[in-house]
Amino acid sequence: MEPALQRLVVVSNRLPVALKREEDGWKLKQGSGGLVTAMAPVLRNRGGMWIGWSGAAEPEEGAGGGTVGGTDMETLFADFTEEAGYELCTVPLTEEEVDGYYYGFSNEIVWPLFHDLQSRCRFHPRYWRTYLDVNFKFAEVVARRSSPEDYIWIQDYHLMHQAFFLKSMGVRRNTGFFLHIPFPPPDIFMKLPWRAKLIQALTEFDLVGFQTVQDRRNFVGSLHRLMPEARVEGRGAVVTVHMGNRSFRAGAFPISIDYTQFSEMAARPEVVQKTVDLKEALRHRKIILGVDRLDYTKGIPERIRSIQTLLRRYPDLQGTVNFIQIAVPSREEVGEYKELRTEIERLVGRVNGEFSFPGWVPVHYHYRSLPHDDLVAYYAAADVGLVTPLRDGMNLVAKEYCACNNKGDGVLVLSEFAGAAAQLQRHAYLVNPYDVEGIAKALHRALHWPLEERKAHMSRLREQIRRNNIFRWVDSFLRAGIAKSLEDFPEVET
Ligand code: ADP
Ligand code: G6P
Repeated sequence: MEPALQRLVVVSNRLPVALKREEDGWKLKQGSGGLVTAMAPVLRNRGGMWIGWSGAAEPEEGAGGGTVGGTDMETLFADFTEEAGYELCTVPLTEEEVDGYYYGFSNEIVWPLFHDLQSRCRFHPRYWRTYLDVNFKFAEVVARRSSPEDYIWIQDYHLMHQAFFLKSMGVRRNTGFFLHIPFPPPDIFMKLPWRAKLIQALTEFDLVGFQTVQDRRNFVGSLHRLMPEARVEGRGAVVTVHMGNRSFRAGAFPISIDYTQFSEMAARPEVVQKTVDLKEALRHRKIILGVDRLDYTKGIPERIRSIQTLLRRYPDLQGTVNFIQIAVPSREEVGEYKELRTEIERLVGRVNGEFSFPGWVPVHYHYRSLPHDDLVAYYAAADVGLVTPLRDGMNLVAKEYCACNNKGDGVLVLSEFAGAAAQLQRHAYLVNPYDVEGIAKALHRALHWPLEERKAHMSRLREQIRRNNIFRWVDSFLRAGIAKSLEDFPEVET
């Protein structure tokens, strides 16, 4: 069956919108992060249903929908569906469930471990148990709200047990799983106390997708250690794994963005005006830009230190360049994220204290979520996109920066540990995010790169991202999930 003919049921921890309480009641707010940026245009384009948690813990457990704080969620979501063209379905979670499954298992175990930051993990058995309970709860909703003809597409590390529980309930569905974050090397994965159960659960999906070929190799490496009966067939982007009398597929599908939407938005007269205003406000100094969720995987403190090193080493740059860091608040209830915020604010203060003079402050720091057109104006205004995560599944900011650079004269300085580096390495300036001096040197070169070279590299980057856009990603994933044979499966550019 052609991918377009099946109804798509996307399941993720978060919906594309989150419920937030404001003074005059509950409101729907745009969700943040790469998963939502990537999947929202997909559902707008194809229709279907998105199942997820509302983002607000419910004091009392209620069945699908229900009311929060006296405001009817059904009405808020119905309005959303009318505008967006696809249905939302919520999985209500209690405070205790949110605590153990989301803050605990997802954010204190899988997130740090899979990003190679194992010293930040807290392996509490309670987290694991709540993770299983919540996965069972999600699977019950999926079973109830879907039919055997639907394609069930599970997103990310919060919900790795969906296929396992659907099968254990005797519910037959075609299931795909996509991991938005890296899959760690076997030596790191083996530290997980529940490694065998988790990897076995992943083998229950019909298709398991990763951001890069390296992630898929890491997964297969762990699989071989924990389930020696697994046999891999094929060598392309998608392989078949045989496990005794059953098999599943595993592939690399680098996620992307809606390139045209970003590029066209950057060209809109009102956004062009915002871009001009921004440059004028900064007196046409060079702009180095960082945009991230405020997360310890993003390397923001190291990045600020590299700006300090840049200004110390190359004093001629003082007064001629601005570093703008835009950080969207994330997981603010988690202690490590609070500490990170304090550390960043301290570092920004220190660098500005060291170098500012009347009329020039080197670092501009915005701690808030920006409206889409403002963000695009920042991208379009920046001479250098500085994307230096310590580890990242893909990093969509790198792609968004290039898509918005319609003038084609910007430079992307990119961490070699971002999934995006696998695709963009030939035309981005690759750096080691821990190497503060190396980043400073790269920035100095980037700021002095001849226009012709900048244009040549940026046009290749833009072409790569334009071709491998989010819609191509969806097609390739769904084809691999639905195709009977992989023989004429089109090779994905990884
Ligand atoms: P992650 O998924 O880890 O957050 P990505 O770079 O893949 O990392 O995705 C981040 C997404 O969040 C991007 O789509 C980016 O545009 C968006 N974003 C980041 N910072 C902001 C901000 N301050 N305001 C609005 N959107 C933001
Ligand atoms: C990353 C993850 C997503 C997550 C997002 C925001 O993009 O891959 O699954 O939704 O960060 O994090 P949050 O914890 O707020 O959902």
